[in-house]
Amino acid sequence: MPLTLVCGGGFGDEGKGKISAYLAISDSPILSVRTGSINAGHTVVHKGRRFKVRQLPSAFLNPSTRLAVAAGALLRLDVFFSEVKELGVSSRVVVDRSAGVIEPRHVEAERRDKVLAGIGSTAQGVGAAMADRVMRRLRLAWEYGELAPYLGNVADLVEEALDEQGPVMVEGTQGLYLSLYHGTYPYVTSRDTSAAAILSEVGVGPRRVDDVVVVFKAYLTRVGGGPLPGELEVEEAAKLGMLEKATVTGRVRRAAPFNVEMARRAVRVNTATQVAITKLDVLFPGAAGARRWQDLPPETRKWVDWVEDQLGAPVTLLGTGEEATHTVDLRREKLGPL
Ligand code: IMP
Ligand code: MG
Repeated sequence: MPLTLVCGGGFGDEGKGKISAYLAISDSPILSVRTGSINAGHTVVHKGRRFKVRQLPSAFLNPSTRLAVAAGALLRLDVFFSEVKELGVSSRVVVDRSAGVIEPRHVEAERRDKVLAGIGSTAQGVGAAMADRVMRRLRLAWEYGELAPYLGNVADLVEEALDEQGPVMVEGTQGLYLSLYHGTYPYVTSRDTSAAAILSEVGVGPRRVDDVVVVFKAYLTRVGGGPLPGELEVEEAAKLGMLEKATVTGRVRRAAPFNVEMARRAVRVNTATQVAITKLDVLFPGAAGARRWQDLPPETRKWVDWVEDQLGAPVTLLGTGEEATHTVDLRREKLGPL
């Protein structure tokens, strides 16, 4: 913090939700901004309760954090209102006036689309709505009366919060390799998922950012089509505990070992100041639940040090379990006082 951006360094599902939730608890941002859309599901587990958010920031976990949806984000009204209700956060949600709105016809169009089926799209209407936005025929949040109580200017809110020295978090979605520009086109999503693009969605300039936390999982997963270097057979992935199911679609995720070259490029393109690695407990069961460096098994520490050396960026946050607080936080040791 003060302005921390969290983004993904893989094919999404790196555990950004978990890391954002941890940062929300530990750093108490006064504002957190969600970008992207409902094709991206973020899982947050806290005190044994499991939440899946597709529209609102994972920082909802901290009751003192204001929750914003960026101008470049796309809303689906049913998803938005059900999350607001389920999480009981109505009084602290702000939607940028210029956020786009996905309509049922966008979902229908994507369900019929053969190209998208081949890519393995989540068919949530996100790309179709984005296409309409580019063609300047998408309706925006300010045009929907039911959103009126939530409307605001999120870029202004970020500036105001920073002027008050308040920590602000920006939550990216998906990962660099699903980026429309920098990913494995055409097997990508309908937006740029890099740090620069995430900022652009919010309406904040690059020099306002203090920290870019690029999140990796200790192994790679991918849903849908497209290349996955080192892809494992399903049985092998299952044996290693890497078989996961997608948050939004329930599909089985393809899995592969951690890829240093890909991670290095994600660090560079996103200008990472810090690296987070989640699910270390899958690679190293002895790491499960650890919250301190000294509680990690020696081979885990050795691997993390090796990754840090390879990436040339400090590895500051380590996920050791699905609970938000199952995190080893090395920021003070590695970066000095926060
Ligand atoms: P779409 O963005 O729903 O059209 O999907 C395009 C591709 O991106 C498909 O391979 C999806 O599985 C993938 N994708 C989109 N959002 C996510 C995500 O949040 N996590 C993982 N994969 C995603
Ligand atoms: Mg996900």
